Amino acid sequence: MNLRALNWVLLVGFLLTVALNFALRPDPSRPNFEVFPDMAHSARSNAFSPSKVFADGQTLQRPPEGAIPRGWLPLHYRATPEDAARAGAELVNPFAAADPQVRARGAFVFTTWCQPCHGAGGRGDGPVAQRGFPPPASLLSGKAVEMRDGQLFHILTYGQANMPSYASQISREDRWKAVSYVRWLQSQAIASAPKP
Ligand code: HEC
Repeated sequence: MNLRALNWVLLVGFLLTVALNFALRPDPSRPNFEVFPDMAHSARSNAFSPSKVFADGQTLQRPPEGAIPRGWLPLHYRATPEDAARAGAELVNPFAAADPQVRARGAFVFTTWCQPCHGAGGRGDGPVAQRGFPPPASLLSGKAVEMRDGQLFHILTYGQANMPSYASQISREDRWKAVSYVRWLQSQAIASAPKP
């Protein structure tokens, strides 16, 4: 085949390709042709649709006894003073008290959730307590100093007498950090107390 004939073949091929490009326009209202769909369309069932796989004929299955949802850790305590004491003996604050980031986060949590009643310094003189709510005892002396971290955590988690539970508003990590911050407030108060 000489060069001229080859050029004619290439020209015809080129024009054919351009013509096909217009003739076979894709229809935007339909999905594209899939050559190898592979696993794009695997078999699946909706949660509440019937299923032939399971004996009870349902897709959604009850989790096995003792299953724990991802991201949620159980706490095996009740809202009683005995269990608060047990939490004090068993639970350990997972955060290092000296970590400045822990203290900064604890300060934020304390200012947001605890200051209204306990006051910025933990003396029990927050605005809510000054307007008629039974004022809590100071966190800087007495019982709160002697309680162990786990017991403070239990109080934040389950509440105590007039103090409500904060488990639904404050995450578990943030409750521990608030405990660290209370400890820091106490250490500051002890450091600045007049020496005998
Ligand atoms: C609605 C007001 C209120 C808020 C908000 C509040 N508390 Fe309390 N808290 C109280 C009261 C009232 C008591 C005393 C309960 C009692 O009589 O045993 C108390 C008790 C405590 C105790 C035990 C002190 C003791 O001597 O028995 C600790 C520790 C404590 N709170 C920490 C916190 C922390 C930390 C926060 C923030 C997460 C917080 N509280 C938020 C009202 C509040």
